Amino acid sequence: MSVVVWVNGVLHPADGHGISPLDHGFTVGDGVFETMAASGGAPFALQRHLMRLDYSATRMGITGLDLDHVRRGVEEVCATGGDGLTRVRVTVSSGGGPLSSARGGAAPTVVVVGADAPAQTECRAVRAPWKRNERSAVAGVKTTSYAENVVMLAYAREKGADEALIANTHGHLCEGTASNVFIERHGEIVTPPLASGCLPGITRGLALEWGAQAGIPVRVSAPGELEMSVLDAVTSGEAFAAVSSSTRGLQCLVALDGLDLAAGPLLTDLAREYATRSLQDPDPGPIRD
Ligand SMILES: Cc1ncc(COP(=O)(O)O)c(C=O)c1O
Repeated sequence: MSVVVWVNGVLHPADGHGISPLDHGFTVGDGVFETMAASGGAPFALQRHLMRLDYSATRMGITGLDLDHVRRGVEEVCATGGDGLTRVRVTVSSGGGPLSSARGGAAPTVVVVGADAPAQTECRAVRAPWKRNERSAVAGVKTTSYAENVVMLAYAREKGADEALIANTHGHLCEGTASNVFIERHGEIVTPPLASGCLPGITRGLALEWGAQAGIPVRVSAPGELEMSVLDAVTSGEAFAAVSSSTRGLQCLVALDGLDLAAGPLLTDLAREYATRSLQDPDPGPIRD
């Protein structure tokens, strides 16, 4: 895999970027990030990713982030990486800090990496045996403190899957380790609300907007409407499931807990609509209420 690395305004060789060992992102995971799809030398949905980066930084209390600086980094990485880039990752940490959870008041560290990572073409999921804490201080924040997701994805991989679906502390369906989740049942599609503790996924938001515009019945569920047990209806064929993320788009699950699944007809329509609209509108503007 070839990569392009940009740190605090300067392009670097992939193995020589010199981030401090005292950077709080490295020592305690005090950072936020974005992962964007890229094609034709351009990132997808840059405006929305920058808005969410700003939201995540604000929620974390990371100050001094200059979004124009980040945008320039993304543009420079895309120009350097060219057509081969499929993924752009922006990582922002709170900068150098002490060897504790306290912050040092440094300027943020900003890193942009472009890579030609292979596409994730299908999704095999398992149910994770752990919970997402919807009342965590960082619930819904795209923080670099992703150790829980790392452990849950490793669990999924051990079981021959590539995603784990997680319940929140109430036992309600929440999200995957790196995706949001959609359920098709009773002639409509529903996705858990942000109150479930899930990330406000860019793909989730666009699928909701573009799906509704296309007349596909898709909505956010009421809190608690989607129990984790809805996945029993998925394995018995009474309901269907899909995941969404920047690197996957919207994908119907092909398997859950080792059982092969059929694709939901409405979810298939929604996935097609998402794929078409994302080509037509590669940088959708801010969310319209
Ligand atoms: C925990 C989690 N939920 C949902 C998503 C999907 O978000 P997006 O559509 O913005 O990629 C991600 C993406 O990595 C994620 O890490």
